[in-house]
Amino acid sequence: MRTHVCGEVGVKDAGSDIKLVGWTNKWRDHGGVVFIDLRDRSGLVQIVFSPEVDREIHKAAHRIRNEFVIQVEGTVRHRPEGTVNTSIPTGEVEVVVKKLTVLNKCKPLPFMVDDETDASEMLRYRHRYLDLRRPVIQQNFIVRHKATMSIRNYLDSHGFLDIETPILTKSTPEGARDYLVPSRTNPGHFFALPQSPQIFKQILMVAGMERYYQIVRCFRDEDLRADRQPEFTQVDMEMSFIEREDIMEIIEEMIRKVFSDTLGVETAEPFPHLTYSDAVERFGTDKPDLRFGLELKNVSDIVKDTSFKVFLDTINRGGIIKGLNAKGLADYSRKDLDDLTKDVQGYGAKGLAWMKVKGSIESPIAKFFPEDTLKALVERFGAEDGDLLLFVADRADVANACLAKLRNEMAKRLDLIKEGVYRFAWITDFPLFEWNEDEKRFQAMHHPFTAPMAEDMDRFYSLDISSSLRTPNSELSTLRAQAYDIVLNGHEIGGGSIRIHKKDIQDRMFQLLNISRKEADTKFGFLLEALEYGAPPHGGIALGLDRLVMIMAGAGSIRDVIAFPKTQKAVCPLSNAPSDVDPGQLKELGIRLDIDDLE
Ligand code: AMO
Ligand code: AMP
Repeated sequence: MRTHVCGEVGVKDAGSDIKLVGWTNKWRDHGGVVFIDLRDRSGLVQIVFSPEVDREIHKAAHRIRNEFVIQVEGTVRHRPEGTVNTSIPTGEVEVVVKKLTVLNKCKPLPFMVDDETDASEMLRYRHRYLDLRRPVIQQNFIVRHKATMSIRNYLDSHGFLDIETPILTKSTPEGARDYLVPSRTNPGHFFALPQSPQIFKQILMVAGMERYYQIVRCFRDEDLRADRQPEFTQVDMEMSFIEREDIMEIIEEMIRKVFSDTLGVETAEPFPHLTYSDAVERFGTDKPDLRFGLELKNVSDIVKDTSFKVFLDTINRGGIIKGLNAKGLADYSRKDLDDLTKDVQGYGAKGLAWMKVKGSIESPIAKFFPEDTLKALVERFGAEDGDLLLFVADRADVANACLAKLRNEMAKRLDLIKEGVYRFAWITDFPLFEWNEDEKRFQAMHHPFTAPMAEDMDRFYSLDISSSLRTPNSELSTLRAQAYDIVLNGHEIGGGSIRIHKKDIQDRMFQLLNISRKEADTKFGFLLEALEYGAPPHGGIALGLDRLVMIMAGAGSIRDVIAFPKTQKAVCPLSNAPSDVDPGQLKELGIRLDIDDLE
């Protein structure tokens, strides 16, 4: 239906007759001549309807509205002097139309198809086909496609087999809530949608596949955020006869290729390694944004003999005082600081203490500290005149979490984040177990098939489980795992581990997790049995493809790189899923609804 695509018409075509199809992006009438920006996926080109060329066509052009689908035939010409548009690639030319066919009309639009939009998310997703026509959004899917192709090519050339695993399956161990699917043929029984293919990919290693990958949908019923969706895509991988370093090397090489193929960006090598405890100490989080410094400093040792009650009480209760230096912000007003305090309280802290460095220290709490303590604080932060020191006193986990968020916020305010910069890091030596405060028990931090670090193996077997299982700071919390995450610009874009491939270690793991053999068998028995039939040493990783592409495309939300995303409330406004079902369907499944009981 066309000889050219809109975005590629150029000076080289001047004088030729061409045929184009596309959507009417913008319509204007200038002194009797109608101009339309015609748009297809490749871009825009200006087409011109002049009464001098053809009266009838010019008249017909007046009946065209935004987003009509048209086909035109015409002649390419240089735009007259002074009318060149340098902001689009085709801006030096225009097409004088000699024949027009309206292929389809379009109803009045609920919002304009434009890069900039103030339409609400609900409206955009309800008419996602219009939203997806916006060139900025289309660009995201081009990036996504290129990245995916590059990944597949890389993995193919490194001996990975693409193998599919079931979607109708059993609960997997990632720790989020499952999406359940009732089984009609087995009344009262349910499938769970996979939170990841974890168990199946390990079984594929027992099955001798050696190198597996899959670009696969995963389902997790959890609270949504800007970088979380209930269904999302992993680049899932598993390998046999490898060690942690082998996996890291492959991932680094693959990511370098993906950035180079997709964006033409060469990323720095090698990616730095940080242990989990160093990351938390220096940045308050295991997903630090390394595009800027602003490192946190623990000052508990300096202020421990203070008379400032907030700090003293915190230390006496086993908490910490930690802070950061917001460079050059000593001119913040009282209101600025009150607002910032409110923000930090929103993150979960009880308050925010501050000190302005202005020759001496200006702060409502300065009076509680002797001169040499203040001096030691200034030194710890390497602070200079004009700097602002910010402190949070709390339980270590709360102080770290709040300061990590404050650090990101201050980096934005200080304009420390440059566009087009990609800072990767490996976070290693994760704790094997983490304390679940709600359930008052330890759980696997990654998942229960993650191997302990070799250095901690003796303690893994010898520690006294009876007491360990019940207190958050017991020795169990000090064991480390052969687990690693990859972080990019403050987002966790992937995580994996070396797995347990021997039954006695797996048994001990369940014992430490206080999971009975019976419970383990019911949940994961099929994997445990497989491990007894000559399971090779193996390990793997999964990258969050949506997150990776979100960062590569410079998108503000993961939803901008997923064609048909769910809203914050996990609904699809386009299809209206989830929805009521036919009572007959429920009856067939033996399901009776009792939603009044739900909170
Ligand atoms: P994990 O649970 O760390 O590991 O998931 C791997 C990566 O998937 C991405 N991710 C998400 N992306 C969008 N929305 C979500 N709700 C979401 N949840 C996770 C993150 C994360 O790093 N089976 C293990 C992997 C392994 O051990 O090999 C697993 O699923 O980028
Ligand atoms: P108060 O004694 O409650 O008036 O607090 C004195 C100052 O300490 C105020 O600036 C509070 O915001 C700050 N502050 C209170 N609690 C904390 C805390 N947990 N961490 C840091 N600063 C705090």
